[in-house]
Amino acid sequence: MTAAILVIGATGTTGKELAKRLAKNGHKTRATVRPTSDKRELQALGVELVQADLSDVVSLVKAMGGIQKVYFATPLVPNMVELSSSIIRAAKSTGVKHLVKLSGGGAEIELDTMAKWHRAVEREIEQSGITHTFLRSNSFMQNFSNFSSHTIRDHGAFYAPHGDGKTAYVDARDIAHVAYRVLAEEVHQNKAYYLSGPEALSGAEIANILSSATGKVIKYVDVPAEVARTSMLGAGMTAEIVEVLLEHYRIMKLGYTARVSGAVEEIIGHKATHFEAFAQEERKAFV
Ligand SMILES: NC(=O)c1ccc[n+]([C@@H]2O[C@H](COP(=O)([O-])OP(=O)(O)OC[C@H]3O[C@@H](n4cnc5c(N)ncnc54)[C@H](OP(=O)(O)O)[C@@H]3O)[C@@H](O)[C@H]2O)c1
Repeated sequence: MTAAILVIGATGTTGKELAKRLAKNGHKTRATVRPTSDKRELQALGVELVQADLSDVVSLVKAMGGIQKVYFATPLVPNMVELSSSIIRAAKSTGVKHLVKLSGGGAEIELDTMAKWHRAVEREIEQSGITHTFLRSNSFMQNFSNFSSHTIRDHGAFYAPHGDGKTAYVDARDIAHVAYRVLAEEVHQNKAYYLSGPEALSGAEIANILSSATGKVIKYVDVPAEVARTSMLGAGMTAEIVEVLLEHYRIMKLGYTARVSGAVEEIIGHKATHFEAFAQEERKAFV
């Protein structure tokens, strides 16, 4: 990989891990940022930063100048399909050769609204004729450190309405490693991969693992959807996204996110990260 690679969403959960891996392996790496983005980590890595906003296709066209390969993760927002469309149009007009999209598990069957949005973007990429790879990822392990660590620290508990449903959580660093290989190896072109962790775990099992890793009692509390709705709205999330997430929790409760795939291991050449290892490494976030 001699030409620079562009990472869109490089301050996000998977994008920052990919930017790190690319930069540390000596690849020329460019990342889109906004005036409000926290750029410190990317600057320390020597990543080239360009200002671009997903709602401004002209800024994306400029960011893609001289670029052949793009990885993108878009925020979970109601206009995700429209924002992704700007990326696809910019890539088409600048002659990008390979688009790697962070997608969602179940996109192929449009399992829920989130998966439908991802599939709509995938379809537009297929129709654009641009060589692509779709990384259909299950829920990230990092959701616990990103979104639940404050209640775990303050109350020794995390709250969610997914009952006893199991999920094969995947480490975002494994997703970034997969993206890295996919960008480097032609064999992954025009393929879609479902990425999961190595085992499906219930909320209670996750709580036990986090308890062992931290040495403090951590509980999973299965809350009614109504309580989760009130809490998410109270945290400032929009009503539309709250309903999309509640629908996803129902899917989790029914066991649709428990499927384990070997794709991570097949692509990166070693086993996908177990939740125990993630919990050990991230233990400080929970105490
Ligand atoms: N969380 C999961 O379990 C999971 C599982 C599978 C798939 N996904 C998918 O992952 C995606 C979210 O990824 P993530 O967790 O990495 O998201 P994230 O942490 O929220 O990061 C979003 C990234 O997008 C950038 N961004 C947001 N709005 C932008 C705009 N208007 N213009 C340019 N950049 C913008 C942000 O940059 P700033 O720093 O400037 O804000 C940030 O780099 C969603 O598509 C979701 O469906 C998530």
